[in-house]
Amino acid sequence: MIHRPRRLRRGQALRDLVAQTIVTPADFILPLFIIPGRGKSRPVKSMPGVSQLTPDLAVKELKRAEKLGVRGYILFGVTPAEAKDDRGSHAHAPDNEVCTAVRRAKDAGIDMVAISDLCFCEYTSHGHCGKLCDDERLVVDNDATLEMLCAQAVNHARAGFDVVAPSGMMDGTVAALRQALDGEGFDHIAILSYAVKYASAFYGPFRDAAQSAPGKGDRQGYQMDFRNGREALREAALDEQQGADMLMVKPGMAYLDILARLREQTQLPLAAYQVSGEYAMLKAAAQNGWLDGERVLRESVYAFKRAGADMILTYAACELSERASNGVV
Ligand code: PBG
Repeated sequence: MIHRPRRLRRGQALRDLVAQTIVTPADFILPLFIIPGRGKSRPVKSMPGVSQLTPDLAVKELKRAEKLGVRGYILFGVTPAEAKDDRGSHAHAPDNEVCTAVRRAKDAGIDMVAISDLCFCEYTSHGHCGKLCDDERLVVDNDATLEMLCAQAVNHARAGFDVVAPSGMMDGTVAALRQALDGEGFDHIAILSYAVKYASAFYGPFRDAAQSAPGKGDRQGYQMDFRNGREALREAALDEQQGADMLMVKPGMAYLDILARLREQTQLPLAAYQVSGEYAMLKAAAQNGWLDGERVLRESVYAFKRAGADMILTYAACELSERASNGVV
């Protein structure tokens, strides 16, 4: 007998019927960069379609996203240079950019999951993800940074975030955060751990957008080595033991193998982050006419879902949702 898998590929209706993966706007988390002030939108050059927004305009953008069916957003603070110091104090200000934006969004009745990126690279003058214990060798002090992250998380919980997402790759982060949040009456605030975060060149455009590139050195002393796969499973298991509610793999497209392996290991919801460089390269090729931008974007989010992601952080969340038909991307 000749097996004929092609029989089930005859016509769109039949293909839809047997489709094994579905992506909807409800799978998306929209990242936004928040600048201080009012009424300002500054395009990020290396990320076509993405702008830094003041809190009022961020609320407008979130209203649009909510209408399109997007269910979550993650905010990154863009700190003015004069507000940065070596310990990232601005992260603890109750009225900083991200706290103001989330408060406004909640006041405006936006019913989306508000996620905060917990890290210090956007707040420190040296651009590293915590306090340095050795300025010469640019070593980040793990345990001192944990205390700072706990204070940042409580500040964000007070401002109205529903979920905190630590992205600094400090050891013991999840356990420390859980204890600190519970101690302040925030046992309902979930932790989405960037459990598996590689030291990646794909973050390039983000560092322009968030003005968070390290002045000197790189992040290889805390973020993961891209040659390591099994280590990702260990990082994820540690975070799960410490009480993480959800786990993230980042970057996404270049690490689909990790996502698929992690899907086998954990029952926790998994997020994939299509990072700035992955977004930028698709956009750049599309602008050059080398790729069909709409189709490659759509294909890329299906890849995350097929590999095992339950949710996807992507700068194209609104764009993809706008083009969804019958609620399907
Ligand atoms: C903060 C953080 C980064 C990203 C998300 N959170 C940058 C970094 O680690 O340098 C990157 C996201 C992207 O590239 O889209 N630590």
